[in-house]
Amino acid sequence: MQDLAKTHNLDAFWMPFTANSQFKQSPRMMVSAEGMYYRTEDNRKVLDGTAGLWCCNAGHGRREISEAVSQQIHNLDFAPTFQMGHPLPFQFAEELAEIAPAGLGKVFFTNSGSESVDTALKIALAYQRAIGQGTRTRLIGRERGYHGVGFGGISVGGIVNNRKTFGSLLTGVDHLPHTLSIEHSGFSRGLPDYDPGWAESLQNIVTLHDASNIAAVIVEPIAGSTGVILPPKGYLKKLREICTQHGILLIFDEVITGFGRLGSPFAAQEFDVIPDIITSAKGLTNGAIPMGAVFVRDEIYDAMVSPESQAIELFHGYTYSGHPVAAAAGLATLNIYRQESLYTRASELSQYWEDAVHSLKGLPHVIDLRNYGLVAGIELSSIAGKPGSRAFQVFQACYEKGALIRVTGDIIALSPPLILEKHHIDELFNILSDVLSTIEYKE
Ligand SMILES: Cc1ncc(COP(=O)(O)O)c(C=O)c1O
Repeated sequence: MQDLAKTHNLDAFWMPFTANSQFKQSPRMMVSAEGMYYRTEDNRKVLDGTAGLWCCNAGHGRREISEAVSQQIHNLDFAPTFQMGHPLPFQFAEELAEIAPAGLGKVFFTNSGSESVDTALKIALAYQRAIGQGTRTRLIGRERGYHGVGFGGISVGGIVNNRKTFGSLLTGVDHLPHTLSIEHSGFSRGLPDYDPGWAESLQNIVTLHDASNIAAVIVEPIAGSTGVILPPKGYLKKLREICTQHGILLIFDEVITGFGRLGSPFAAQEFDVIPDIITSAKGLTNGAIPMGAVFVRDEIYDAMVSPESQAIELFHGYTYSGHPVAAAAGLATLNIYRQESLYTRASELSQYWEDAVHSLKGLPHVIDLRNYGLVAGIELSSIAGKPGSRAFQVFQACYEKGALIRVTGDIIALSPPLILEKHHIDELFNILSDVLSTIEYKE
């Protein structure tokens, strides 16, 4: 293998969410990608077990997308969407509304999941005020929730490392308990049964603050970034009921569950629970061009945008909201999803996937296995005093053996492109099983 640290000057790029020193001493560089595989700089094929970062649902190197993008850059590289327009975001929003859960027919464009989350929180606050409920300013997130890295997102998010060094964050935020109990539902297949009343703790927060002070609750239907935490059966429905009862908006952060990951276009349809706002990004453009979208219930838009009003209704937006090139990438992406039936492919493969995931039961240090759709969480016991080290060593070994997995703490999270075939599942789990069985951990 070439010594990549010597071939590049890696000093200037401050890498995000990365152990910079560690990486720069032994870099892992991808240089191209096609279908289910990356190609590394040392010319090895690496199977993508993570769709990049939960983005590339239609696989890599899709010509339909790159051609749409290149044509659009030539034709109209940029045009503003503040008090001006161009056709593509209107067309894209219309196509998105067609696959969104019924009633969420308005789409606000952003450039990332983090921006989608902050946009959703701001719309919730502005809406409550617009309907005369201006005292509703509190926001409720959940422990172990990940909602990106904006100040809104880290405030409602529940990950200590993402919060602890960044000051006082938003005030007026509460957190629901997370819904993982390895003790009671370890090795469950699909959604677990065990639920000690996690959704009802929302009722306790309402009792504490009074509903008249609470604007919105935000949760990921399945929490991905903190290690695939599944909602117990019926949990999301209960959250919906409590929110409806108290006039609290329910926001689903579907940045990773959107666009077919679970077997339906959105988790909302998969679990038959319709929130008031959905945030999305990633799979929206197959990861090819940065873009996010926030789906909003029609009544929310209608309450804020009256036909008579002539002034700006929502003082919010990004220079690149509805960027023509991103919208072109998105339209081409939706075409692929439709033509290749990728919204439902995860449900077709989910049984095979589930069996493969649970074939790892009994391997050294595997303390839980979780799965739904084409998502899996494999939790390992931690090395004493070195949290995250065991899974990171597995990650490195899998990469050497030709599979890209993602780790968070000591949990491996898998989310392959939805185009994968059964033989890719076999290949991924053969590598994982081989590594987990044979690796000699540095303690
Ligand atoms: C649920 C969820 N929300 C928000 C985000 C943030 O998205 P981005 O990194 O595009 O800002 C992520 C990213 O992984 C996510 O998983």
